[in-house]
Amino acid sequence: MNDLLILKASSKHINDIFKISCLSFPTSWSKESINNEIIHNPKAKYLVAFKNNLVIGYIGTWIILDEAHITNIAVHPEYRNLKVGSALLDSLINLCKNNDVKHMTLEVRSSNIYAQKLYKKFNFIEEGIRKNYYSDNYEDALIMWNHNI
Ligand SMILES: CC(C)(COP(=O)(O)OP(=O)(O)OC[C@H]1O[C@@H](n2cnc3c(N)ncnc32)[C@H](O)[C@@H]1OP(=O)(O)O)[C@@H](O)C(=O)NCCC(=O)NCCS
Repeated sequence: MNDLLILKASSKHINDIFKISCLSFPTSWSKESINNEIIHNPKAKYLVAFKNNLVIGYIGTWIILDEAHITNIAVHPEYRNLKVGSALLDSLINLCKNNDVKHMTLEVRSSNIYAQKLYKKFNFIEEGIRKNYYSDNYEDALIMWNHNI
């Protein structure tokens, strides 16, 4: 996508991230949780995607030693399937490489085929299942890893 800008998230992006989260997940993180992540959690790294000065997506991870756990990725529904998610994940992988991360992991709903396609495109492989992981519908989570980012 033209004019896509990816930047480190800061306090001024919290409202926009919260709005996209509410549009994207059956149970959104609260604004307070997002605020804690971005402002107070030293292990958390968040990026936002901008188009024409609008926040249209975000991604976050926790970095612990040489592992990164992706906590969240979402793109505003009006901008999906335009490679914004790919650009966010690519930028996050680069950020992780610069922080000496070797392995990245995440959980994804077993029904979330588009997200799985995105992760597979970046060489994440399914390595396990957490049964009934999601409390809203008891759906299974697939555990995916990329051991060589
Ligand atoms: C998952 C999500 C972040 C992907 O963002 P996106 O910007 O739409 O992703 P991209 O356009 O980069 O697409 C990535 C890949 O997914 C697949 N894909 C995404 N949307 C698709 C669609 N509507 N139809 C078919 N394939 C699709 C494609 O394989 C695509 O790669 P390609 O375009 O190179 O073929 C987005 O769908 C979203 O916000 N979903 C709701 C929140 C969510 O489920 N987050 C994941 C939690 S684990």
